[in-house]
Amino acid sequence: MTDSNKTATLTVHGETYELPVYSPTAGPDVIDIRKLYGDAGVFTYDPGFTSTASCDSTITYIDGEKGELLHRGYPIDQLAGKSHFLEVCYLLLYGELPVAKDLEQFETTITRHTMLHEQMQYFYRGFRRDAHPMAIMVGVVGAMSAFYHDSTDISDPHQREVASHRLIAKMPTIAAWAYKYHIGQPFVYPRNDLDYASNFLRMCFAVPAEEYEVNPILSRAMDRILTLHADHEQNASTSTVRLASSSGANPFACIAAGVACLWGPAHGGANQACLEMLEEIGSVDRIPEYIERAKDKNDPFRLMGFGHRVYKNFDPRAKVMKQSADEVLDLLGVENNPKLQVAKALEKQALEDPYFAEKKLFPNVDFYSGIILEAMGFPTSMFTPIFALSRTVGWVSQWKEMIADPQNKIGRPRQLYLGETMRDYVDIENR
Ligand code: SDX
Repeated sequence: MTDSNKTATLTVHGETYELPVYSPTAGPDVIDIRKLYGDAGVFTYDPGFTSTASCDSTITYIDGEKGELLHRGYPIDQLAGKSHFLEVCYLLLYGELPVAKDLEQFETTITRHTMLHEQMQYFYRGFRRDAHPMAIMVGVVGAMSAFYHDSTDISDPHQREVASHRLIAKMPTIAAWAYKYHIGQPFVYPRNDLDYASNFLRMCFAVPAEEYEVNPILSRAMDRILTLHADHEQNASTSTVRLASSSGANPFACIAAGVACLWGPAHGGANQACLEMLEEIGSVDRIPEYIERAKDKNDPFRLMGFGHRVYKNFDPRAKVMKQSADEVLDLLGVENNPKLQVAKALEKQALEDPYFAEKKLFPNVDFYSGIILEAMGFPTSMFTPIFALSRTVGWVSQWKEMIADPQNKIGRPRQLYLGETMRDYVDIENR
């Protein structure tokens, strides 16, 4: 934390308080209110945390006005174009791009952690076949606490490292097996001769009855999608992981909490909801009807994949994703994909509409991702599990940063209480 000689003056109930102000390396200054309740007897009020910095971090920086996203200082479009997912994992975890020998060692370590304990298969069999893959992931990730006891002591840096590697390595297997269980096909084991994205695709789409060759176009596109979803500052699921971790809960339980939060349609579930929306719209001539619905305060409908708490400009990930959608569908020979046509027309018409312009609503990461994933052969129910397996490295990196922070303490917000003041119990015969 940068010490500050800058202060903010607050006058409340006739008293004046000087609050320290800290300046970041990038972004807005912050006002330190940690002593406010003790000194002034008042809370700040910020439901949804629209103006609240919950921590300090060196991992990811977002400039919402400019539409910039940096991971350890590197712009997301450069990482998506020049790097690959496991190198980005290394960058997020350790803070610097690796030299060749370190990258090779890291990739070998992750590759050799991709298998699940054989007994974990039985967890899957307890679910109904039509269970949503995210329901399965929440359960199986939490169950890792019951299988990997030798990496649950968060006070041991070595165990934190092993847990981090296990989570990053095993999430593709967990997600692929959730899909296989859902469609009634046998589980496919990971292979150590395949890269991370290719391994995941093979575990999803291979069947014992024949050899499966990974399409390099699809594995490159999958790797890019994983890179684009890897981390995103203090979003809802990352904040969930941080809050769960602040009580000292083991990493597997905390990441399971992140998976649960990500599932919501306002967050990581938006990619599934967006594709379902595009399917419902169906054709370009129905777009005006849906744009009017999105603007109607009395209609709960919102354009899924549009808007963002932080970005008030294009989500830089959406730009890369849109370009990738064009490339992948073209390379796959998918001519005139109707959902892509509707998506492009919807984006154009929405961005030309004053409502969206005034509220600074732009396509976000979830607007185009589903179109690519569907073209790869994934059902919509697998879109958020893929987001979760990518975001695991972000959750784990933020968790490691927090646990190692000597200032780390249990998160315990207060409230603006609007309920009854104290009153005496009334016996039932007198009510
Ligand atoms: C992700 O936080 C992250 O970083 C998340 C994420 C990550 O990588 O972790 O980027 C991933 O979750 C992306 C967002 C995916 N969600 C969606 O696409 C769902 C649709 N979008 C919205 O529900 C909404 O935009 C949110 C939830 C994303 C953001 O909501 P906010 O910041 O709380 O904003 P808000 O709901 O207060 O909206 C501000 C105004 C409102 O109108 P007014 O009340 O001011 O009149 O904009 C309107 C909203 O009604 N609005 C929309 C809209 N999003 C906001 N109107 C129509 N369609 C939309 N999509």
